[in-house]
Amino acid sequence: VIAPRPAPGPAALRRPGGDGASGPAAMARSHLLSVADLGADGIEEVLRLTDTFVEVSGRSIPRVPALRGRTVVSLFFEDSTRTRLSFETAARRLSADVMTFSAASSSLTKGESLRDTVETIEAMGVDAMVVRHGGAGVPWQVAGWVDDVAVVNAGDGAHEHPTQALLDCYTIARTLDTAGTGRRCLDGLRIAIVGDVRNSRVARSDVLAFTALGASVVLVAPPTLLPASLSGWPVEVSHDLDAVLPTADVVYLLRLQRERMHEALLPSLREYTATYGLTRERARLLGPRSLIMHPGPVNRGVEVAAEVAELTGSVITRQVANGVAVRMAVLYLLLGSGVQLAVA
Ligand code: NCD
Repeated sequence: VIAPRPAPGPAALRRPGGDGASGPAAMARSHLLSVADLGADGIEEVLRLTDTFVEVSGRSIPRVPALRGRTVVSLFFEDSTRTRLSFETAARRLSADVMTFSAASSSLTKGESLRDTVETIEAMGVDAMVVRHGGAGVPWQVAGWVDDVAVVNAGDGAHEHPTQALLDCYTIARTLDTAGTGRRCLDGLRIAIVGDVRNSRVARSDVLAFTALGASVVLVAPPTLLPASLSGWPVEVSHDLDAVLPTADVVYLLRLQRERMHEALLPSLREYTATYGLTRERARLLGPRSLIMHPGPVNRGVEVAAEVAELTGSVITRQVANGVAVRMAVLYLLLGSGVQLAVA
């Protein structure tokens, strides 16, 4: 498990080897593997472009011809509902052709290697591969195997999930309307990330993105759900959710990822909810403008009270809606041909 690294310099989706090229023209066949590839300028560039695709998504025919003739394949080796549908919807709204690969029904079950699978799909002529895999680092491996395909990390093990972080930044910045209030669009905000940080790729990418954009982050979790080492993480740590909530502009709840827990890290779920769950009573400690966020899927009644997801301040469904527009922006930056964003 790799700790977040400080986001490096200028805007650009990095080419392999990081030649530092920037600007949309230089972005063809770059990859989006880590939030750190973007840097603060790059993140803000994606957020600005997302505004355009939110507008497109609101049209009666939410489709532009920007990626007509391009093929995007979603290559998912782990279960997913929202991330996969979100990427596929984004690609369709850009008029790309979409191919879907499911590990469970593929030749992987006949013993084909990951590399052979990737090279077979590349040979069919695809422009982008959206990769989710249970192993940390797999999207980097895939990027090393392909020649002329843009690779997007849609979640690798407990390591990173960059487009989730981008949609989270977008949702916070636009809901709290932070434009023009600071140098960076999350300047001065205090964001509490609560729960299973240890197993969370969302937490790793969010910490990188939120802090790059000027927010301060406090992790709130029992010691067993924190990474073994937080060295290099630009965060505070607390074990007292009640003390943190009144000070937080955003409370970001993480799912308890029981599929990644190989040992008993909690005495019981009831105990966890009593101490770290955003119960109805706890939600009252939040300020009137504070946001409640969750990447989904939600374990209702565990990390968040069954009804809290419907409370004012909850932007959980807005995160999902913004996810499509953010992914349109990312695919457009990686594959865009410079075609005007006219109605299809
Ligand atoms: C997250 C994931 O799969 O990393 N979900 C998502 O992409 N929206 C978080 C989770 O599974 O808890």
